[in-house]
Amino acid sequence: MSGDANRGRAIFYGATAACARCHLFNGEGRDVGPDLSSIRTKYQRLELLDNILNPSANIAFGYEPWIVKVKSGDVYSGFILADGESIVLKESTGEQRTIAKDQIVLRKKQPMSIMPDNVALGLSAQDLADLTDFLLITPVRKN
Ligand code: HEC
Repeated sequence: MSGDANRGRAIFYGATAACARCHLFNGEGRDVGPDLSSIRTKYQRLELLDNILNPSANIAFGYEPWIVKVKSGDVYSGFILADGESIVLKESTGEQRTIAKDQIVLRKKQPMSIMPDNVALGLSAQDLADLTDFLLITPVRKN
């Protein structure tokens, strides 16, 4: 099925799929999940589609979700950006939190992606074709 990249752009930034709520493309969107501006160099069409339909099957490196429990009893979740004397957690809001190692009582990797399995539920096959077409174009850099 062939797609229309312009329609795909509208879907990416639109309210139903809300991909831009978590992804940047060409500098627009939010920085929660991976920047998709050069996703075309990583996946071909079918793999790309598979990553949209089954996010948890193949979690992008560095985007494995963790939960971290601290001595006060609070529990945080997010991606681990840095792991040393303290860990830097990027929460699903996009905000970063630094937690000292000696405060951590438990850390556990979660099997499910932060990207919901059902983001594509409201999309038709044509929508998906348009969306993948959009993601496969070479973005025109803006200043
Ligand atoms: C709630 C946040 C969220 C939403 C909404 C979301 N994603 Fe994601 N997405 C993520 C996160 C986090 C990852 C990295 C973990 C993973 O691979 O599952 C990801 C991974 C991906 C990947 C694989 C990236 C790679 O480098 O392997 C693709 C492609 C993708 N998303 C496309 C989309 C599209 C298209 C939509 C809209 C239909 C969408 N996402 C909606 C958070 C989100």
